[in-house]
Amino acid sequence: MSARPAASRRTVLRGVALTPVAGLGLTACGGTTDDSAAPLTEPVELGPESEVAEDGAKLYRDHNVVVSRSGDGTLKAYNTVCTHAGCPINKLDGTKLVCPCHGSEFDATTGKVLREPAVAPLKPLTVEVKNGTLVAGPQV
Ligand code: FES
Repeated sequence: MSARPAASRRTVLRGVALTPVAGLGLTACGGTTDDSAAPLTEPVELGPESEVAEDGAKLYRDHNVVVSRSGDGTLKAYNTVCTHAGCPINKLDGTKLVCPCHGSEFDATTGKVLREPAVAPLKPLTVEVKNGTLVAGPQV
C-alpha cells in the first residue's frame, strides 16, 4: 500500500518534467504560416533563359523556384518550399540549396535531400523556354 502513493507522485513529477520539453519540440519544428512559402499553382515567367548557366542553377526567391541546367542543356525546376516544415529556402550555394529554418540542404539539380532534418525531396515543377524566357509551373 505504501508504494502506491510514491508511484503516483513519481508519475506526476515525470509528467511535469516532460511538458516543457514537448512544448519546445513543437515550437522548433512548427510550420510557417507565411504566405511567401506558397507553392506555384499556375505557370510563372521567371526571367531570361540565359540567367541559368550550364552546370549551374538559379534561385527565384519571389516564386519559390530553383532552375538548374545540366551540361547537355537540360533544364530542371523544383519548388523551394522546404519539405521539412514549409519554410521558403532563401540560399543557393553553387547547386546546393540551404533552408534557413533548421539547416536542411537539397541538391538543386535533383531535388534530393543532402542534409536532414528534411527527408522528402523537393517537389518537381515543369520548366520550358518561351521566346527566350523561362516559364515554370506545377506538374499535372
Ligand atoms: S523548414 Fe526545417 S529545415 Fe527547412
